[in-house]
Amino acid sequence: MNVLLLGSGGREHAMAWKIRKSNYLNNLYIAPGNAGTAQLGTNVPIAVTDFVEMKRFTLEHDIDMIVVGPEDPLVEGVYDFFRDDEDICHIAVIGPSKKGAQLEGSKDFAKNFMVRNQIPTARYLTVTPENILEGDSFLDSLPSPYVLKADGLAAGKGVLILDDLHESKQMLREILDGKFGKAGNKVVIEEFLSGIECSVFVLTDGSSYKILPVAKDYKRIGEGDTGLNTGGMGAVSPVPFADETFMEKVRTRIVEPTILGLSKEKIEYKGFIFLGLIKVEGEPKVIEYNVRMGDPETEVVMPLIKSDLLDLFIGVTTETLDRKKLEIDDRTAVTVMMVSGGYPGSYEKGKEIIGLDEVTDSILFHAGTVIEDHRVVTAGGRVLAVTSYGNNMDEALVRSYQSISKLCFDKCAYRKDIGFDLR
Ligand code: AMP
Ligand code: GLY
Repeated sequence: MNVLLLGSGGREHAMAWKIRKSNYLNNLYIAPGNAGTAQLGTNVPIAVTDFVEMKRFTLEHDIDMIVVGPEDPLVEGVYDFFRDDEDICHIAVIGPSKKGAQLEGSKDFAKNFMVRNQIPTARYLTVTPENILEGDSFLDSLPSPYVLKADGLAAGKGVLILDDLHESKQMLREILDGKFGKAGNKVVIEEFLSGIECSVFVLTDGSSYKILPVAKDYKRIGEGDTGLNTGGMGAVSPVPFADETFMEKVRTRIVEPTILGLSKEKIEYKGFIFLGLIKVEGEPKVIEYNVRMGDPETEVVMPLIKSDLLDLFIGVTTETLDRKKLEIDDRTAVTVMMVSGGYPGSYEKGKEIIGLDEVTDSILFHAGTVIEDHRVVTAGGRVLAVTSYGNNMDEALVRSYQSISKLCFDKCAYRKDIGFDLR
């Protein structure tokens, strides 16, 4: 098969690494890719939402399958674009239809879907300029802290958790007035849930499904989960607290009703579902749906999948996923993200990364890197995901931190406490 993979982060490097191992692969192209994906396939300079250019490329290179990394192309309808054009409808897109992508593209849609399908989630109210006073009353009825979410995609910045009631009412108005642009045309106010979070990934063909290894990511820049939110500073898989009892509840109360709900509502969905879950007194609740894999969770999930990924994807597109076997490595995988100093605020780029060839005990998944004059240099906030296996979490962590000690670039930073809360 000839495969086009969309995206340019650590997630896409990890997917490319796994796809490269497939017996079904002929050529792999990555649009636009990074310095890491360039070692595994051909990077092509096409923007992930430029569907017209994508069509031209897929026809010219005889592409059989498009694997979508990030959410933007899914929310903008890449699945429907290919399905509805007779020249390219033979090309399978791994991902949901535009309607299905609303599970991530609109928090109001996702909450309504959960209520319709009795899926456990935080109580909520959706507010528009028309019912803003109702929003105030709902806030009055909740204990602090208050959770406000812009309805649409807001590059990970659309969720606010505030202690003060007055400030929350003020912020509700600011979001509706355009603080996050169009994404804030509606605001979802939620009850705050207190518990421990994990990410559950499901691959579905629309009726059957496979649950992939569960991961936990570390979102904040500072140790002890303090400071600003980032794209993710590290991840571990599996997650000790996501035990069999918990996962059975996840399967019966969340995964199955989600897939059944999609199918009942005739929402086409052939791809990944990412459940952002919180465990509250032993019970799983959905914090959010995403319609793609997580980053950096993918950098630990892909290394733990032993089955051929393209074979699973073939199961997805031909609706025979139930006949495929998902084999999982019984080791632990961890990843520690090396980031540019200053991130998630402003940071410098173009710093040469030294030591890439010295690392033998870890897999280096590139995030923000490019090749410049035959050198690999930094090109983003998150730079390298340093992934290692171990017979347990501690063993894997020692390997990643040892590998990091062999790597350097000017003003590099990383968290030294990945996984510590799970010990
Ligand atoms: P989201 O963008 O929806 O993933 O939200 C970002 C983060 O905000 C989540 O990972 C949670 O840590 C936190 N969060 C979102 N909703 C809630 C909630 N209802 N209760 C507690 N924390 C929440
Ligand atoms: N790691 C969380 C996300 O990818 O959204």
